[in-house]
Amino acid sequence: MTLQRSCFSGLRGTGLLVLFTLLVLQLGAEARRIVAVGDLHGDYEQSVSVLRLTNLVDNNTHWIGEDAFLVQLGDILDVGPDDIKIVKLLMRLQKEAQARGGDVVELLGNHELRNFRGDYTAVDQASLAANGGKEGRDTLLSNATAVGTYLRTRKAIFHYGPFLFMHGGFSTATASMITSLKRVEDFNAELTQALMNGTISPLASDGLDLAEDDVEDVGNPILVRSILNVKCDELAKVLKKKFPGIDFVVVGHVPHDPRDFNGWRLCNGRLIDIDFGMSRWKKGDPGHVAALEIEEATWHTQLIETSTAIGPIATDDVAASDAVTAHHLLRLSMLIVGVVLLAFLIAYCVPFRSAIEQEPLLDWPATTYGAA
Ligand SMILES: *[C@@H]1O[C@H](CO)[C@@H](O)[C@H](O)[C@H]1NC(C)=O
Ligand SMILES: *[C@@H]1O[C@H](CO)[C@@H](O)[C@H](O)[C@H]1NC(C)=O
Ligand SMILES: *[C@@H]1O[C@H](CO)[C@@H](O)[C@H](O)[C@H]1NC(C)=O
Repeated sequence: MTLQRSCFSGLRGTGLLVLFTLLVLQLGAEARRIVAVGDLHGDYEQSVSVLRLTNLVDNNTHWIGEDAFLVQLGDILDVGPDDIKIVKLLMRLQKEAQARGGDVVELLGNHELRNFRGDYTAVDQASLAANGGKEGRDTLLSNATAVGTYLRTRKAIFHYGPFLFMHGGFSTATASMITSLKRVEDFNAELTQALMNGTISPLASDGLDLAEDDVEDVGNPILVRSILNVKCDELAKVLKKKFPGIDFVVVGHVPHDPRDFNGWRLCNGRLIDIDFGMSRWKKGDPGHVAALEIEEATWHTQLIETSTAIGPIATDDVAASDAVTAHHLLRLSMLIVGVVLLAFLIAYCVPFRSAIEQEPLLDWPATTYGAA
């Protein structure tokens, strides 16, 4: 049988088999998940609900997300009563996640910046009282405490693969302020410097600017109101020209109608808005628990949401579920096909002793192994 001979003859055959085996293993391995959640605004229960729903924490709020990345898009502070409690939760989860090869990446929102300025007009009275009134909050959020240092060293923009995550959005004005991926890192570093140490560079000054007099002209990525001012053509042009390799911009900041389940993907998927108005303390909003899940191997994106009606859900009621999606099924079928093919290859190619005995490899030309 010529098949038995040709399969593994020489390095090339073995190499191909190893490659194919690796491919099958890769299909079978769980790819890293990136879970992104939008504005939380002081609602601790809803925050825990979304972490349970996406399988990142167990029912004691300890990290079970393995090497997943949790990206929170800012605006944890203000509105609801438990904003500081959420910050402390994410500080602990970051340590737990990092110990497993994962991470928790909390980004700066405009409400964090307002608080750093001492503007507490949107702070819940219970939260203010719980942390020692105005002076207590000043101290807590200063660069002299663990909470303050943590918050003041958060990034404004997080870059991962073809994704940019930020609180507000990425307008044409943003791209003339932050002109390349390298400038993204400069922006983050200079903001940290400004918030920790009071040294304000021109770029950091733009990042701290919360003025919105001319909506068309807002460049600060922490402040741009993406979905109120969607310019798909401009976004496409800016990314192509200055940010090659970036295909998706993920933002929060402006809650869209959580009943409109298609509304989170805009501009052919290039712009993703995941502010679902999660906090029950937002005016007139019952709060809706949902998150974006990205699979690193394929960059496949999907929405994870509660099947329950819009409205508050108790943490205990959230069954952390493995969402079986078309995408997961496709992966599984590819894996099965791969395993069957591999078994077939091995069964027909590996020269078992019996096969060798029956058909001695007499006529293999020596040149097969020699220099060709
Ligand atoms: C919480 O987790 C523990 C340990 O995994 C389990 O024994 C317990 O039943 C869980 N409780 C609920 C309410 O799911
Ligand atoms: C704060 O800024 C000053 C002046 O730019 C600089 O000398 C100092 O090293 C900075 N400190 C920190 C902790 O970054
Ligand atoms: C805190 O900020 C002040 C200036 O506002 C600066 O002098 C001091 O070095 C900072 N502390 C740290 C730990 O960076």
